[in-house]
Amino acid sequence: MTAKQSALKDLPPDLEPARLPQHVAVIMDGNGRWAQRRGMPRIMGHRRGVDTLKDLLRCCKDWGIKALTAYAFSTENWGRPLEEVDFLMTLFERVLRKELREMQAEEVQIRFAGNLAALPASLRLEIDRSMEATRHNQGIVFTVATNYGGRQEIINACRAIAHQVQQGTLQPDAVDEALFEQHLYTAGNSDPDLLIRTSGEMRVSNFLLWQLAYSEFYVTDTLWPDFDRTEFHQALCAFQQRDRRFGTLS
Ligand code: IPE
Ligand code: IPE
Ligand code: MG
Repeated sequence: MTAKQSALKDLPPDLEPARLPQHVAVIMDGNGRWAQRRGMPRIMGHRRGVDTLKDLLRCCKDWGIKALTAYAFSTENWGRPLEEVDFLMTLFERVLRKELREMQAEEVQIRFAGNLAALPASLRLEIDRSMEATRHNQGIVFTVATNYGGRQEIINACRAIAHQVQQGTLQPDAVDEALFEQHLYTAGNSDPDLLIRTSGEMRVSNFLLWQLAYSEFYVTDTLWPDFDRTEFHQALCAFQQRDRRFGTLS
């Protein structure tokens, strides 16, 4: 075991630190089915899903992964029954309030991606508070995609850029990938190296449409509340087997 590896808490010996993804993104899917299979209301799955996310965040930090982005609520999820949407908004708020101290202790820098202005005011307050309090933390960048839509994100960026061009402060030829990225919700984040989706669905559901251009995809049938360290370890092993060619030849 190398010195670097022993410094990473509990990193399984078959994982090579140098070949780990720097940034992992997760579509946390299957909470409702997890609960329904147990004869429980869907919201119980969401509650359990929070514990799974907390464990994964800690695991990423232990294993030296620099960034985790989690899809918590899509712009399309407003179409669910009001009761479920209300439960989720209250859950997000409660979790943020409850976990802030722990995030500080773990050096987590929390960020949010999405149309935050449309969220309930009391949730926005917790979002602002947690972002402000953790902005200098260097342990891991944890981005929560909340009221997030990839298409909306791209349209917003286009609008902001068009506005600058109209004002005469930006030349159309100056618009390139680097500039475009500065207008995304995820400005300043690296692109995910690995995207994990639980519950077996083979789709991106409007998640990080721009940022996933060269991410490796890993889909597991496991439902989100059951996605534990062992499952994550498997995903990372699969990632390490991938030949990332980025359009060139290996
Ligand atoms: C993912 O689980 C959580 C959110 C979308 C908020 P689901 O609620 O989509 O669970 P399934 O897919 O219906 O089982
Ligand atoms: C994607 O899951 C959104 C989140 C995990 C927050 P959905 O359950 O909403 O996606 P679809 O409806 O199966 O595409
Ligand atoms: Mg789902």
